[in-house]
Amino acid sequence: MNPNSWISKIRSRLGLCEQDLQIEHLEKNWLYVAAAMVAFMVVILGIGALFLHLNPPSHWETIESPSLHLSAEFAEDKLGVQPTTLPDGTIQVTLVAARYGFYPREIFVPVDKNIQFRIASLDVIHGAHIPMTNMGTMILPGHVSEVTTVFPKPGEYPLLCNEYCGMGHDHMWSKVTVLTQDEWAAHKTGGKQP
Ligand code: CUA
Repeated sequence: MNPNSWISKIRSRLGLCEQDLQIEHLEKNWLYVAAAMVAFMVVILGIGALFLHLNPPSHWETIESPSLHLSAEFAEDKLGVQPTTLPDGTIQVTLVAARYGFYPREIFVPVDKNIQFRIASLDVIHGAHIPMTNMGTMILPGHVSEVTTVFPKPGEYPLLCNEYCGMGHDHMWSKVTVLTQDEWAAHKTGGKQP
């Protein structure tokens, strides 16, 4: 059915004059704008998922938050970059998120390597986010959050909390220093840090 014919039918039923329902053009244009915005966001989501690996976490692992300090993996002296890598060469980094910081406060990792972060919360919900990377995850108490990323450029990166967790939320951050391969080799053998 031609939309103009049913619009004129509605118009006559309601006893309206021409101007009362002269909104099609403007409305149509706005419909196009809204459709374009939806299409744009779907494209952005698609690019993020397919090419930037921005995916929802598929990992489900629980842990006792109140006794983190007693756990094999998240005890205070076990945190940070792990001495042994995974079989595929991925470097594991264990962190504890607690009000108000990520512990350890500073970590050193190499450029162009798979870095797998494993993070547990000691208290409330936190978020971990490293701007300009795909490293972003929620950290729920009682669960281990796991996310893998690669740093393409050496330099200093902030690791920020992006879930409101209390008065000190704005100050909850740590530093990730990404080293070149040479610096990393020197760092691992206890060489001078840059
Ligand atoms: Cu931790 Cu906000």
